[in-house]
Amino acid sequence: MIIAVDGPAASGKGTLAKRLATHYGLAYLDTGRTYRAVALALMEDGVALDDGEAAVRAAGAIDLGALEAPALATAEVGEGASQVAVLPELRTVLVARQQGFAREAARAGRGAVLDGRDIGTVVLPDASVKLFITAEVEERARRRALELTGSEAGPAYERLLAALRSRDARDCGRASSPLRPAADAHILDTTHLDADAAFWLATRVVDEALAA
Ligand code: DC
Repeated sequence: MIIAVDGPAASGKGTLAKRLATHYGLAYLDTGRTYRAVALALMEDGVALDDGEAAVRAAGAIDLGALEAPALATAEVGEGASQVAVLPELRTVLVARQQGFAREAARAGRGAVLDGRDIGTVVLPDASVKLFITAEVEERARRRALELTGSEAGPAYERLLAALRSRDARDCGRASSPLRPAADAHILDTTHLDADAAFWLATRVVDEALAA
C-alpha cells in the first residue's frame, strides 16, 4: 500500500502522515525534508539558493534515512526549501530519490506513506490512496502561532500569516510541479477539525480503499 499525502505548509499533513504510517505499519518519508536538506546544505556553504548545479550536487548527497535533524525544522530553512523547490533540475533528482524510497519499501514487502506537495500528482501518481490535506490560511497561522509562542494572536500570528501566504503563493505558482490536488485525491479540509478527527477521517478513506 502506498499512501500519498499532499497539502500546503502547516496544514497538519506531516502529523497525519506520520500517524498513518505508524497505524498501518508503513515506511514514512517527509519529502519536504529532502528540499530542506538541500536548502540547508546551500545555506551552510554560502551558495545562492538559485544555483541549480550546486542544488543537484547537494541532492545526490542526502541520506534519506537521516532527515530528523532539528536544524531542518526551522522557518528559515523552510523558506529556503520553498525557494530551491522551484528549480526543475533539482526536482527531477529529488523526485527520483523519493520514488526509489517507495520502491525499496515495496521490495521489502512494506508499503509507504510519503508526504509533500506533488506526491499524488508527480512522485507517485499510481498511489493506492491520495489525500490532500488543507485548511484556511488563517487557521494554519493560528495553529502555528499557538505551537511556537503559546498565543494564537498578536505580532507572531501576523508574521506567520504573511509568511504562509507568501509560501502558498510560491508553492502553488511555480511552473514546475505546483501544489495542487490530484484529480483522484480525497480532499480533507481540517479548518474545523482537530488532529484526532482528521486522522479518523483519513483512516476511513484508507480502509475503504483497502477493502475495494
Ligand atoms: O512541507 P515543508 O514545509 O517541509 O516543505 C518545505 C518546502 O519544500 C515547501 O515550501 C515546498 C517544498 N516542497 C516541494 O516543493 N515538494 C515537496 N514534495 C515537498 C516540499
